[in-house]
Amino acid sequence: MSESRVHQTKQPSSGVLTKTQQADTQQPRDTTDPLNPLQQAVLRPGRHRKPMTPHRNTASKRKRVVLTVLTVIVVLGILVTAGYFIKQLIDTKYYFCKRSIKFIPLDKACDGTSDCTDGEDELTCVSSFTDNTTFPVRLITPAGVLQVYNEGAGWRSVCGDDWTEKHTATTCQQLGYTQNPQRTVLSVTALGASLSKGPFTAVQSGTGTSPIQTATIDRTECRTGQVISLTCSDCGQGGSEERIVGGTDALIQDWPWQVSLQQNGGHTCGGSLVSPRWVVSAAHCFTGTKREVGRWRAVTGKTYMSSLGGATVDRIVKNGRYGSNDYDIAMVRLSSPLSLGEGRRPVCLPPKDLGLIAGSPLVVTGWGYLEEKGKTSASLQKASIPLISREKCSSPAIYGSNITPRMICAGLLQGGVDACQGDSGGPLVRLSSSRWRLVGVVSWGVGCARQGRPGVYSNVDQLLNWIHSVMEENQ
Ligand code: ARG
Repeated sequence: MSESRVHQTKQPSSGVLTKTQQADTQQPRDTTDPLNPLQQAVLRPGRHRKPMTPHRNTASKRKRVVLTVLTVIVVLGILVTAGYFIKQLIDTKYYFCKRSIKFIPLDKACDGTSDCTDGEDELTCVSSFTDNTTFPVRLITPAGVLQVYNEGAGWRSVCGDDWTEKHTATTCQQLGYTQNPQRTVLSVTALGASLSKGPFTAVQSGTGTSPIQTATIDRTECRTGQVISLTCSDCGQGGSEERIVGGTDALIQDWPWQVSLQQNGGHTCGGSLVSPRWVVSAAHCFTGTKREVGRWRAVTGKTYMSSLGGATVDRIVKNGRYGSNDYDIAMVRLSSPLSLGEGRRPVCLPPKDLGLIAGSPLVVTGWGYLEEKGKTSASLQKASIPLISREKCSSPAIYGSNITPRMICAGLLQGGVDACQGDSGGPLVRLSSSRWRLVGVVSWGVGCARQGRPGVYSNVDQLLNWIHSVMEENQ
């Protein structure tokens, strides 16, 4: 029975087999192989492991490469940053002679003696200019009445008689402007007492392109009863209507003539655009290590202090009479004229005798210190300050004899609102006949916003002759 039972169990093995049974029957056959099934089962993952080993190698290699690249990038970054700062540091102290490949101390550049081969360090330097003659054309009174000058007859107002558009263009060009010259006529009777009595002069026919002072002939009165008034530039149009110390945030669109004059990417002084190519600033901004023209950039159109997109400068002229804060004015010529637009427009130069009186409301703008011994401001600041009378400002209690006719004082005698370090060269403006006019240039002060120590500004009215002469000499 037991045999048959054995048989019975063997029978199915010889008959139709299930897959598992088949595998069981194959096992003995496999045993003839050098390795048993158990070993095979162990080996199989072994065979898998072999091809996997190179896989793991590429992964770690890749990791190593990424790590190396990252390290190189970081190291390069550090080197570049360090290099940049070292270059900045060197740039603030040394001048590099490109041809002789050597460094000289910055104050040796533009000192009048050549320290590089070929005098490379003396080639592009701040120049001085002294106006010894009277610039023969001017606009006078808030109305902007045109006057011409000659030695014998002095200043005469120009009649409207025989005046042509050509004369308008020629005269504005003489004043340094080519942008949109405009002419209006004014009745002689409407002029103030000092002007209405003459003397007068009028153009001769066919003189449109001659300089206006040679095109005119003296008259005892104007046949038309009218005189010429000129607006020579699309100027003085700010937006809506103060740190600077005690000021408030301002937008460049509202004070679009404001310029940041920079050296080595750092704000150094303020300035005012008076034409697409000329910036008025202070002479004291261009002394000592700051006489090399090529190092300067003029940044325009920015509310927030930035060193990006600065215009290069090809000429800097300071007043030849500048000394101990007197005649503190300079003009900076941009290498190419700016394209004007929102946030980039000239301020008007004031006519002679704009008639400012003590208390006239003025506005000063700039990125200078927010407090004495403070820091420059990241965003443009403005402050409204009144004009202080010459008498008051030159009283012994305030600045005494330090105040010359080339200076005006503005601010609060109780202190609290003032320009400060870094505002120098920047504009002090006055709104008159709905145009902003440059009446002062930030110059000096004792401390900032102190009681009884107002800000002192270069008196543009007294320097107009110099400004026009510079623009004419450097066209
Ligand atoms: N000299 C200064 C400058 O270089 C400006 C001084 C103006 N000071 C004053 N208290 N308003 O920036």
